[in-house]
Amino acid sequence: MDRPLSIVVIGASGDLAHRKLYPALFGLYAQGYLPERFAVFGFARSAYTHEGFREHVAERLTCRYTPQESCGQRVSEFLQRCWYIRGEYGSSDAFLDLYQAMKEVEGAGEAANRLYYLAIPPSLFLATAHALGGAGMVQCGLGEPWSRVVLEKPFGRDSASSARLTREMAKVFTEAQTYRIDHYLGKEVIQNMLVLRFANLVFEPVWNRNYIASVAIEWKEDMGIEKRGYFDDYGIIRDVMQNHLLQILALAAMEPPGRLDSKHIRDEKVQVLRNIPPLTAADVVVGQYTGTERNGRRIRGYTEEDAVADDSLTPTFAAATLRIRNRRWDGVPFRIRAGKALDERVNEIRVRFKDVPGNLFTQAAPPFAASVTAANEMVIRVQPDEAITLRIVNKVPGVGMQLAARDLDLEYKAAFSEPIPDAYEDLLLDVFRGEKGLFIRSDELEAAWEIFTPVLHELETKRIKPAGYAFGSRGPETG
Ligand code: NDP
Ligand code: BG6
Repeated sequence: MDRPLSIVVIGASGDLAHRKLYPALFGLYAQGYLPERFAVFGFARSAYTHEGFREHVAERLTCRYTPQESCGQRVSEFLQRCWYIRGEYGSSDAFLDLYQAMKEVEGAGEAANRLYYLAIPPSLFLATAHALGGAGMVQCGLGEPWSRVVLEKPFGRDSASSARLTREMAKVFTEAQTYRIDHYLGKEVIQNMLVLRFANLVFEPVWNRNYIASVAIEWKEDMGIEKRGYFDDYGIIRDVMQNHLLQILALAAMEPPGRLDSKHIRDEKVQVLRNIPPLTAADVVVGQYTGTERNGRRIRGYTEEDAVADDSLTPTFAAATLRIRNRRWDGVPFRIRAGKALDERVNEIRVRFKDVPGNLFTQAAPPFAASVTAANEMVIRVQPDEAITLRIVNKVPGVGMQLAARDLDLEYKAAFSEPIPDAYEDLLLDVFRGEKGLFIRSDELEAAWEIFTPVLHELETKRIKPAGYAFGSRGPETG
């Protein structure tokens, strides 16, 4: 990575850029992962000077990789490489201004690699890509200097719109230049899934329908939609289920890849997604949070949020059971649940094993007879407090034969001294390195939409009313 690098954040004034991208870029810089000559160009309509933009960027930078005494110095070196250009997203002229500014900063000499990060609402992707292309800012070909684009989910609203988006974007950026990000794939525990499954001998032999009774993937947030103005157009199925949860499911259920490269891993993920029959409205429960009182304070329900219509039917909660029709998983339910404004923030995968057949302890005569209360269960906690636990049944110390389930715990904080990187650090570094294994390929996206498009259309055409659940509760009854 010796060649100069220009990182263009389009939508530089936005929430994602502020909370995630600048801190991740600074994290990479502080760890020495960026080339000697790099620059960050912010582009948006808001009025910032270069200095004002640097102040905005600085607000969320942290010293997690830098000793406190040198942190200020590192921050100021980083900020000196940040520039801001104001303009409209669909305007090639505005991008020509940006191009001019980039040329001035990049200077003469070796041409820079260029990354365009579309941190804007999806409705602006196409106009922006065409304007970039129209300004001649996209280098064709796979060699250096390269031009790459990062797109944030949601990639379309259903199969047809996603296919259209893919087709239109391809007029400017080839598939090889396109990085569709699902930031859950950059999370440490999710990246550990393949290692856990395929680098340990003990799990693979039991990772199938003969030993596993069910798999549950749960995603809960304890806050409402807050500033996410786009949410009402999308809803929880498009926002979280069709991407984050389905990706987790694919990693949990895929066959071992022939090799550990992006092609083989993604081939296996696509394969498992194609084996999941599409969902219908009968397969899902949808909910929407309602207002409540807490400590004498009124908490707003979903339809009371700004930018949400009073009669909105957009689900903020959904639960569904998916089936995988293949030799490994036939008959095993994969239950997925996602909801906003619930009782806690947690994302975990629960793999529940079957009961021991002919269990000696339940069949034995006294004094060995005992009731076994729980089956083995493996819990992979993605967040918060990353951990992997395996529930096993034990004899409770003492006379007699009492059994109880206890957890074997691997808590990341206790087991590893290394800081856990933010997902965006890993993913951005992969884009710079041209490593595509953690990004969504177009056929993978297509397979994911095939599963959810019928249920989304049915919910919308039949105007199915989501069940109400109080803000901060455990969500609606899912049966
Ligand atoms: P924002 O709503 O903050 O939008 C980003 C910027 O785009 C704004 O600062 C604004 O800049 C411009 N913009 C917003 N709405 C419009 C509009 N209607 N017309 C023209 N310009 C507009 O989005 P986020 O930063 O939250 O998200 C960006 C992308 O990342 C989205 O695709 C989102 O789905 C995705 N994403 C976001 C996550 C997050 O945590 N925020 C997490 C995962 C994905 P200006 O007015 O200055 O031009
Ligand atoms: C985004 C969703 O993809 O992920 C948001 O659009 C959600 O609705 C966010 O809040 C959660 O990300 P994280 O990393 O905080 O779990």
